[in-house]
Amino acid sequence: MSADTQSTLENLEKILVNEQGEFPLYKRYRALFSLKGLGSKEAIQIIIKATKKEKDSELFKHELAYCLGQLQNPEAIALLEDLVRDEDEFIMVRHEAAEALGAISDERSIQFLKTFIGGSCKELSETCYLAAKKIEYNKETEIKHENLYGSVDPTPPANEELNVKQLRDILLDQNADLWERYRSMFRLRDIASKEAVLALCDALLQDKTSALFRHEICFVFGELQDKLTADALQKTLANTSEAPMVRHEAAEALGSIAESYVSSALKHYSEDPVAVVRESCIVALDMNEYQNSEEFQYAIIPN
Ligand SMILES: [Fe+2]
Ligand SMILES: [Fe+2]
Repeated sequence: MSADTQSTLENLEKILVNEQGEFPLYKRYRALFSLKGLGSKEAIQIIIKATKKEKDSELFKHELAYCLGQLQNPEAIALLEDLVRDEDEFIMVRHEAAEALGAISDERSIQFLKTFIGGSCKELSETCYLAAKKIEYNKETEIKHENLYGSVDPTPPANEELNVKQLRDILLDQNADLWERYRSMFRLRDIASKEAVLALCDALLQDKTSALFRHEICFVFGELQDKLTADALQKTLANTSEAPMVRHEAAEALGSIAESYVSSALKHYSEDPVAVVRESCIVALDMNEYQNSEEFQYAIIPN
């Protein structure tokens, strides 16, 4: 490793671990996404270390777990299992850790994940159901699903034979199996036509069965960065009876829409009493600023 790389990694680790608490959350986010972009063994070890030490922000901790999943390195499995097991851990962190196990997709995780299905925490139960099923699916099929966004999704997309109307029907069917609704969601994201995006907006506003499902639609909107989703996202963020994990994801998705009107909503909720919502708005404002700026890449660390 060159001296330059070494000093970049040390600098990123300092920001990520934030021992003295001097770095604001948006800088830590940028450092995290720089490390995720590097994706090296050293970068993963830094993210693992930071996850173990994180005490300040549940939001940041869930993002660390998310990145460990996306990097798909089995070295993170033991730590992710600890997070899923820990009943004192915030639900968003436990959920993200379980989903990360699905993303890493080690067959040995199937049994572990299944023990949480049907438990008292609905979001965790649903995440583990999807993650275990995804690992089983990967075991049975050779097909590698890739998408425009480079994300490792919690389920594969639905079959290409289904048209938007059929996908919409499955998505809006609150009695349909969550696995099938997720698959429709990702296929509609990949289609990304106006009708497809509006079906996703309707599902976000109409669904009454699963906060997990609604939060994933918001996540997908963050990938789509389509102005058509702004109204549904703003309504979701404004709905204080909505689950924090859904409002959090709505705020971050709004931040990815490069429109100035979005920032007034985000500013308003950057004082929300719910910590993960408040912090998400602060981070989202930073992303929004970036989208409107000339900066080359989000993950570049500002001086
Ligand atoms: Fe999530
Ligand atoms: Fe999230």
